[in-house]
Amino acid sequence: DHGYGPDIDHVLLTTEQIDDKIRELADRIAVDYAGREVLLVGVLKGAVLFMSDFARALQLPTQMEFMAVSSYGSATSSSGIVRILKDLDRDITGKHVLVLEDIIDSGLTLSWLLKNLGSRGPASLEVCALLRKPDAVKVDVPVEYVGFDIPNEFVVGYGLDYAERYRDLPYIATLKPEVYSS
Ligand code: PRP
Ligand code: MN
Ligand code: MG
Repeated sequence: DHGYGPDIDHVLLTTEQIDDKIRELADRIAVDYAGREVLLVGVLKGAVLFMSDFARALQLPTQMEFMAVSSYGSATSSSGIVRILKDLDRDITGKHVLVLEDIIDSGLTLSWLLKNLGSRGPASLEVCALLRKPDAVKVDVPVEYVGFDIPNEFVVGYGLDYAERYRDLPYIATLKPEVYSS
């Protein structure tokens, strides 16, 4: 666990559970997108691990783009005011865009992103999110593919950070309370 062991409170989703879910999502999406070329848009930085495992599991040719956005506000929740830090490198007009997100928390990031990408004229636009917190949602975002609905507690690992740490954990876990106070 990269030496993070003492900081971990409990494991919410194991590596095996994550792998199984990604295979399940990829199988479903391979059927839904059969015959189409998919443009994966990963939302940096949280979605990086999910995107690389998902792209390998999906038995379809895909292309990859990344977008980095930042929402102003505190470290553990977002404000809904979103700023583009890195835009897509290419035009997505006429493309079948599948946005990959690690987690939908308040939904504010994704809601903004879907409006932004939708205005660029993609042939289709859907979202695949590994995690969603139904109890934290402030804006309802139409999401076709969701891996796990999880309780409203702060989680890290598999791309998700606390103060930029723990993204490299191969599983998803909660942190001990003392980690936040130190
Ligand atoms: C996190 C997470 C989602 C977003 C979800 O990203 O990866 O992108 O917050 O929150 P929301 O539904 O409340 O908007 P963050 O802004 O922390 O950037 P990061 O991916 O670089 O960690
Ligand atoms: Mn993110
Ligand atoms: Mg973050």
